[in-house]
Amino acid sequence: MKFLSKFEWAILALVVLYSFIPAFGGLLRVLELAGGPAIVPENPRALAVPIPITLHILSSFLFCIVGALQFLPSIKRHNPAAHRTFGRMIAIAGCISAASGMWMTHSYVFPENLQGNLLYWVRIVLGSLMIGFIGWAVIAIRSRNIFQHGASMLRAYAIGQGASTQAILGIGWIIVFGAEPLGPLRDGLMVLAWGLNLLLTEVLIWRLLAPKKLPATRMATR
Ligand code: HEM
Repeated sequence: MKFLSKFEWAILALVVLYSFIPAFGGLLRVLELAGGPAIVPENPRALAVPIPITLHILSSFLFCIVGALQFLPSIKRHNPAAHRTFGRMIAIAGCISAASGMWMTHSYVFPENLQGNLLYWVRIVLGSLMIGFIGWAVIAIRSRNIFQHGASMLRAYAIGQGASTQAILGIGWIIVFGAEPLGPLRDGLMVLAWGLNLLLTEVLIWRLLAPKKLPATRMATR
């Protein structure tokens, strides 16, 4: 890690901070389910069926935190073996995160104000897409298509990090309006968070990752 630039450390710190509420807050839920103190707000669905949420929180933690290391150019350049090892780890973690997310979406009994039809379907579609993007990224790197590999992993990461944007939008809403968003409003904010992440990701992909077209030289135009 000595080879990371200051800019990369800053990126890493920013991503860890951004993921803090769902990634580290989730670990408190796991602690509670393992018999520890109940620090986070009650979730009766987790208490009733703890396996998918435990799998979900642990895999999502790995995906978000280790995943952040994967986008740092210095690690890829100076330690490609670590990039490959982390890559395998987060490909599996990402699939477990999305699959357990969809498992809960479908099997947990949610009150209507915590998950309506819109959120149900968006979770199923984006969870499936997240697994699809990870699979596509694996296929792309096996065919040495670096751009498609990076772009697909970034898209999967954006879906995963939807949880962080949702937490920030939710807290922002409470600060501004003084009440927790519920029902269709909550569903809408959750979907908006995913939309914003995916939009920003497309900008990053096409601005930073896409192979640059070389300007045509005079020789080429003759
Ligand atoms: C990879 C990043 C993700 C992180 C860090 C994350 C984090 C969390 C955490 C911490 C919880 C537990 C909430 C609690 O304790 O009450 C949770 C629950 C849940 N997550 Fe995720 N999640 C991620 C991705 C996803 C995705 C992609 C989906 C959709 C497929 C999803 C669907 C769910 C569902 C349905 C629940 C149950 C909510 C409830 O019972 O109220 N998550 N997530």
